[in-house]
Amino acid sequence: MKTVKVHTTSPYEVCIARGLLASAGQWLAELTGSRVAAIIADDTVDALYGDTVARALGDAGFTVKRKTFTHGECNKTIATYAMLLDFLAENRLTRSDTVVALGGGVTGDMAGFAAATYLRGMAVAQIPTTLLAMVDSSVGGKTGVDLPAGKNLAGAFHQPIGVLCDPNVLITLPHDVFADGAAEAIKYGMLCDEALFHTLASAGYHQQLESVIERCVSIKADICAGDECDLGNRQLLNLGHTLGHAIERCSHYTMPHGHAVAVGMVYATRIAIGLGLCEPGCLPLLVEALQKNQLPTEAPYPMEALAEIALHDKKRAGDTLMFVLPLAIGQCKLVPVPVQRLPELAAMAAR
Ligand SMILES: NC(=O)c1ccc[n+]([C@@H]2O[C@H](COP(=O)([O-])OP(=O)(O)OC[C@H]3O[C@@H](n4cnc5c(N)ncnc54)[C@H](O)[C@@H]3O)[C@@H](O)[C@H]2O)c1
Ligand SMILES: [Zn+2]
Repeated sequence: MKTVKVHTTSPYEVCIARGLLASAGQWLAELTGSRVAAIIADDTVDALYGDTVARALGDAGFTVKRKTFTHGECNKTIATYAMLLDFLAENRLTRSDTVVALGGGVTGDMAGFAAATYLRGMAVAQIPTTLLAMVDSSVGGKTGVDLPAGKNLAGAFHQPIGVLCDPNVLITLPHDVFADGAAEAIKYGMLCDEALFHTLASAGYHQQLESVIERCVSIKADICAGDECDLGNRQLLNLGHTLGHAIERCSHYTMPHGHAVAVGMVYATRIAIGLGLCEPGCLPLLVEALQKNQLPTEAPYPMEALAEIALHDKKRAGDTLMFVLPLAIGQCKLVPVPVQRLPELAAMAAR
């Protein structure tokens, strides 16, 4: 088994191994003294893995409560969140009991937010079941829900007591959902690990998923431990996200997050090349890595429109946008870019 320690204010471990799901009970029993657990999952994940986890917890002496909600980002709402709080209250969960978030990022964010706020905070254990949730969203303590005005607009920082990753569950993941996670993993390679980047650009990495997850989680853990509340270095994790979010918006959220981030990374690389910060040779390497993972490298929206939307992003400072720009594969930095230069820079680098 691989483990990664996350040194946040309340430290915890991410455990990664094939087949771990069946020992979720022993794992949780070592993390908490309480023997009451509430499993929250979406309907798809509950049907696939809910019974396995419930049985594992039951065998380890837990009284298990279960709640499901309809899958999908469109249900990451205040209404579903309120339903989860009602469920915790109706079942008289106490502050010492544990919410088990079993699922992708939608479940992790929403169950985490319910745990962060029910009785002013109870424990949450994360059992991610998508590649995106394993390499990214289950670690770092960001929880929340979407509002009609935008994504993730209500939430809280609430670190989990532990994270359990069983890559065997990824077998049932649809290919495009797997690709979303691959985009975030490639992001970690671009940010600070050239070897990881090349692994993800190679055909055989599905055989080494445990190492890939371990490496991504280690990078995220290091960045988050130094900046738990997202005030400084943690913004590096936004590589590909400034324009990625704008692309998601322009597509009316028909383009999935990871796909939009893939295009966002290509655009950020073009801008970096246009500014003379990045070697032109990085662009074809990135494009190839994304294409090998069935990810897009272009989106049909003009840069002016994307820049306009990105200006409303929370990282706005005057007429400049804070961009995470690659300097090389495995090296990035935060750079303020004047908004009016974006179309010119992107076009320059596209030639
Ligand atoms: N908290 C953070 O730091 C952070 C970071 C990145 C993304 N996010 C959030 O994560 C969310 C996206 O996460 P996601 O891509 O995991 O979405 P998701 O949770 O909606 O999962 C995608 C789909 O896959 C299904 N699924 C999950 N596991 C499965 C499995 N093992 N087999 C078959 N189907 C399975 C789900 O039912 C769902 O339909 C977004 O809401 C985003 O805002 C949060
Ligand atoms: Zn992301």
